Amino acid sequence: MTEHDVRCLPESEFRASNDLFREAVHAPVATEEAWRVISSRYEPGRVWGDYLDGELAGTAMSLASSLTVPGGAELPAAAVTAVGVRADRTRRGVLTALMRAQLTRVRDRGETAAMLHASETGIYGRFGYGVATTSRTVALETARARPREDAPGGGRVRLLGPEEAGKLLPAIYRTVDSPGAGMISRPEGWWTLHLNREHTHGHRVRVAVHSDEHGTDDGFAVWVPGANDYRFGDGRTTLRVLDLHGADAAATAALWWFLLGVDLADEVVAVERPPDEPLEWWLADSRQCRIRDVYDELWVRPVDVAELLRRCRYDPAEPVVLGVRDRMLPENTGCYRITPDGAERSQLPPQLEMDVSRLAPLLFGEVRASTLAEANLIEVSDPDAVSRADRLFATRRRSWCGTHF
Ligand SMILES: CC(C)(COP(=O)(O)OP(=O)(O)OC[C@H]1O[C@@H](n2cnc3c(N)ncnc32)[C@H](O)[C@@H]1OP(=O)(O)O)[C@@H](O)C(=O)NCCC(=O)NCCS
Repeated sequence: MTEHDVRCLPESEFRASNDLFREAVHAPVATEEAWRVISSRYEPGRVWGDYLDGELAGTAMSLASSLTVPGGAELPAAAVTAVGVRADRTRRGVLTALMRAQLTRVRDRGETAAMLHASETGIYGRFGYGVATTSRTVALETARARPREDAPGGGRVRLLGPEEAGKLLPAIYRTVDSPGAGMISRPEGWWTLHLNREHTHGHRVRVAVHSDEHGTDDGFAVWVPGANDYRFGDGRTTLRVLDLHGADAAATAALWWFLLGVDLADEVVAVERPPDEPLEWWLADSRQCRIRDVYDELWVRPVDVAELLRRCRYDPAEPVVLGVRDRMLPENTGCYRITPDGAERSQLPPQLEMDVSRLAPLLFGEVRASTLAEANLIEVSDPDAVSRADRLFATRRRSWCGTHF
């Protein structure tokens, strides 16, 4: 049997952890310059390693963050990232050992959930993670995509240098009105990495800020010129938008119109956009917004199920009693009576029963209970409870994260 030796890594091992992770995802090992930027994300107590025969075999880390749940409450949550196992040590339980240690620590630290972006969909369900939000990639030809005459917009857009961006953007992100379910708080190290891509990815980000008619900054866009084979009069230039947030439709739309108007750009491609962003409805010709991809975005693992359920809020609907099974964190196993105004543990028999990995997709409105029932992914003891759960967990807007980590 494989002997696992899972440890919380000291700072002296952070670089080895990052090297191992990058090798596992086929990325070049970070240069010294890149590591100076990347290391700002590494926090003592949050970086794990599993040693086999005295050698580091796998690693996982997390960032301190928070997650907005339906109803608007922001709960402490661990943003799990940089997960990798050496190619010659896979399928020996290294990831399982790391996940167990990490989730136990997340719970002991009082964080309500863990969350991540999955490299493959087959990996994390067994550890209790489920898809809570969806994103899409959209592509627009600058020569053809035009706003409707009465589309939202207005205000002013200005370019910022990287230093000013580093000062302004975190504050604007925090003030973007009423963060929706699925959005997360961005740790300082996240911003450092995001805005210093020239040291890690070899290209400098461009940043634009939108201000409203009173001069208040209320949105921003971050992009890189990608796939750039431009020679005057020949080739194509694509602007690849990594991050675009506005306090309202006017700010968001104005940033889009700005990007579509940048000279010598043939195409604007934006990743991780909200599934229900009304971009195609703002355009004179909706077909000019091409949806390149729709994909699972944020995976959420409820760590303190009672607290998570207690803090979610929904529109008026009848209650539902859910039975939850959790093999990795068995203290979560039990029944919960969920109402629009919160939830509590219950002695009532469960009307719907499920593995903990089904809970986040349901709570964030990512999938309806009736769909899970049709897919045999939840067990139904009371058939009426399925339509009650469909109504209870319906969110007003689609949940969306919009932050890659
Ligand atoms: C994905 C990865 C971390 C798995 O590590 P591992 O140590 O091999 O995982 P474990 O041995 O603990 O496997 C646990 C279970 O998950 C399954 N599993 C592991 N990786 C899987 C994958 N990529 N797809 C489907 N199932 C997978 C195993 O078969 C095993 O199943 P079992 O419990 O039924 O036997 C590792 O393969 C890796 O580093 N991959 C490349 C980098 C990467 O994708 N990192 C994740 C970034 S989000």
